[in-house]
Amino acid sequence: MKILSIVFWLLILSKQATVVPYEKYFKCSCINAMRQLDCLTAYCDWDADSSSCTNKPCSEFSQSDCQILPDPFNCIYNYTTNKCENFTKCSDYSFNIDKLSLCYELINCEADLASIDSSGTLECKDRTVKAFRSADNCGLVLYRNCFWYQTPDGTQCVQNTQQQICESKLINKCSDYITNESCNSFACYWSDFNICTEITCSILQQDNCFMYSSVDLKSVKLCQWTGNACVDLDVSTLTQTQCLTATDFTYGWNTDTQRCEICEPPDISSSSYIILLETIILVILIN
Ligand SMILES: *[C@@H]1O[C@H](CO)[C@@H](O)[C@H](O)[C@H]1NC(C)=O
Ligand SMILES: *[C@@H]1O[C@H](CO)[C@@H](O)[C@H](O)[C@H]1NC(C)=O
Ligand SMILES: *[C@@H]1O[C@H](CO)[C@@H](O)[C@H](O)[C@H]1NC(C)=O
Repeated sequence: MKILSIVFWLLILSKQATVVPYEKYFKCSCINAMRQLDCLTAYCDWDADSSSCTNKPCSEFSQSDCQILPDPFNCIYNYTTNKCENFTKCSDYSFNIDKLSLCYELINCEADLASIDSSGTLECKDRTVKAFRSADNCGLVLYRNCFWYQTPDGTQCVQNTQQQICESKLINKCSDYITNESCNSFACYWSDFNICTEITCSILQQDNCFMYSSVDLKSVKLCQWTGNACVDLDVSTLTQTQCLTATDFTYGWNTDTQRCEICEPPDISSSSYIILLETIILVILIN
């Protein structure tokens, strides 16, 4: 009996939904494409000599493409020059407080609310929490902008509709949002029972059947439309042609393992790269 229930739980666990941390979501780019077929010509250049796929330069992208490119392209849209440009660093950008959301359109940046000057301009700064939205101090967020910024101390900025202030609240589940307006629309919905409730793939219609966020905005769950229902995505069932698009450019096809695998942007400063390099050097020295 005990063994049976363990087997049962293992079966359930192995069918678990695909959960992706925020920092890995939507991170595939051309460098992850291992063969020409995956090197999408609209975004990438294929080099036949080296059989390698590289990102097109930012300057070649239209506004609509530029605004939705995954982060590894390092491109941002400049509304002043109307050009797609290389991203430099968060603190190089500043906007009027009304356009504070533009800091979040950059790459891993947030609005530096403490930097607002007398003309109402604020600077952007590096994101302090690995989440879709983050802010350092809810007290500095305007009530009308107060939608689910995650703070470094683990709380969230939530509208207090009675006092009309942006307050810092500990949120663990959707029902911790007590009003319709404050119910986090990335992770929850206002149910027929008048309670803020967790989204699941199964409640999503075809148009929205892609993904939803965790309550803390630090990870996403991927969903898949089966033709008549929205279900948890099981990445292991994806074919070569489905892999990239079904996962919102989060997984790419690995031609060596013949599997759909999470895209890892090559980071030359990473320790594994250095270890690999040291191993190669050691092998060369020993020989
Ligand atoms: C856009 O270009 C202008 C003019 O070159 C520059 O001052 C500004 O910092 C750029 N960036 C953004 C995000 O507007
Ligand atoms: C943008 O970045 C690419 C790749 O790092 C570089 O080759 C290019 O010269 C940069 N363009 C500008 C205008 O700085
Ligand atoms: C929830 O609020 C929205 C606007 O904020 C409103 O359109 C909607 O009717 C409200 N729903 C319920 C169930 O109160």
